[in-house]
Amino acid sequence: MKKVLVAMLIVMMAMGVAFAQGAGESGGTDVKTIGVSMPTKSLQRWNQDGSNMKSQLEAAGYKVDLQYAGDNDIPTQVNQVENMILNDDVLVIASIDGSSLTEVLKEAKKKNIPVIAYDRLIMNSDAVSYYATFDNFKVGVIQGEFVRDALKLDTRTDSVNMEFFTGAPDDNNCVFFWGGAMSILEPYIKSGKINVLSGQTSRAQCSTPNWSTEEAQKRMENLITSNKYGPNGTRLDAVLCSNDSTAQGVTNALVGAGYTKDNFPVVTGQDCDVTSVKNMLAGTQSMSVFKDTRTLAAKVVEMVDALMKGGTPEINDNKTYDNGTGIVPSYLCEPVYANKDNIIELLVDSGYYTRQQIGLK
Ligand code: BGC
Repeated sequence: MKKVLVAMLIVMMAMGVAFAQGAGESGGTDVKTIGVSMPTKSLQRWNQDGSNMKSQLEAAGYKVDLQYAGDNDIPTQVNQVENMILNDDVLVIASIDGSSLTEVLKEAKKKNIPVIAYDRLIMNSDAVSYYATFDNFKVGVIQGEFVRDALKLDTRTDSVNMEFFTGAPDDNNCVFFWGGAMSILEPYIKSGKINVLSGQTSRAQCSTPNWSTEEAQKRMENLITSNKYGPNGTRLDAVLCSNDSTAQGVTNALVGAGYTKDNFPVVTGQDCDVTSVKNMLAGTQSMSVFKDTRTLAAKVVEMVDALMKGGTPEINDNKTYDNGTGIVPSYLCEPVYANKDNIIELLVDSGYYTRQQIGLK
C-alpha cells in the first residue's frame, strides 16, 4: 500500500512539473506566443487585420493571443498590453492613441520582449523595436493626385470649391496622410484655384475624433448648412477624406443634401471597406486606396519569425518614422489606387472579397 502511495505521489509530482512547464512563458515546448493588440472591432479593416495576423501566425507555428480594445478604448488597450507582457513572447500592437503606451511598454523593455508597431507608430517609447505599415505619405499623395486630375486643376481656368477631412488627431498616420495630400493640393489652395469656403484648412480643424463616420457626417452636415452647398446651392466640387470611415460620413451627408451619382462631388477614401466599395460602384465615392492587410500581416509574421529565430527583420525605411525616441526601423508596404474600374481585379480576383460581399452577383 505504502509503495502504491509513493508511486502515485511520484506520478503526481511528475505531472505537476510537466504542467508548470506547459504553462511557462514560452510554453515549455518551443511554441512561442505572439500578443496581437488591435484597436477596435467596429471598423472592418481591423477585423481583417486581426484575423489575417492570427491565421498567418498560426500557420507559421505560433500561438496567438489576439485582443481587441473594445471600441477604441485606451484603458482597455493598456490593460491588454499589460497582460500580454506577462504572458507573451513578442507584442504586435496597432495603437489607438500612439502616445498612451509609453508607461506600460517600459515593462516590455525590461523583460526584453520585442514590440512591433503595427500600421500606426507607437510614440515616445524606446521599447518599439520595429514598425510595419504602408507608405502613409504616399496614401495622401495618391488621394491628392486623384483630386487634382479629376478636377483638371492644371488646365481649367475657373476655381473649384472643396472641403477637407482627416482622421483621429492622436493617430500619427494622419500627419502623413495629411502631409501627402497637402503636398499636392496646398499650392492650389495658395493660388486660389481651390477655395475652401469654410476656411478650415489645418489638420486640427479637419480632424475626426476616432475616425468616426458619425462625427464626419455631422461636420459635413454643418459645412453644407453654413456654406449652402447643394446640387441647387453653392457648388461643391470635392471633399478630400483621408479614409473610408470618414468618407462614408461625408457621403451620407451629401446624399442627405440631395446629391446623386450624376452630380456627386469627388470624394476620396482609403482602405476599400465593403461599404465604400459599394459606394464606389454606386457612384457615391470616387476612389479609395487599397492596403492589402494580407501583405502587411505577412510582413509582420516575417518580422516575428526573424526575431524569434535570432535574426534581423527586413526593413526598407530607416529615416521616416521618428517616434520621439529616435528613428524606428520600418517596413513600408505599397498602397494601391482603387476605383470602380479596377475593383474586380484588385479585390475580387485577388480573393480579398467575394462578389457577393461587395453586393455583386
Ligand atoms: C489606418 C487606416 C484606417 C484608420 C482608421 C489608420 O491608422 O492606417 O487604414 O482607415 O486608421 O481606422
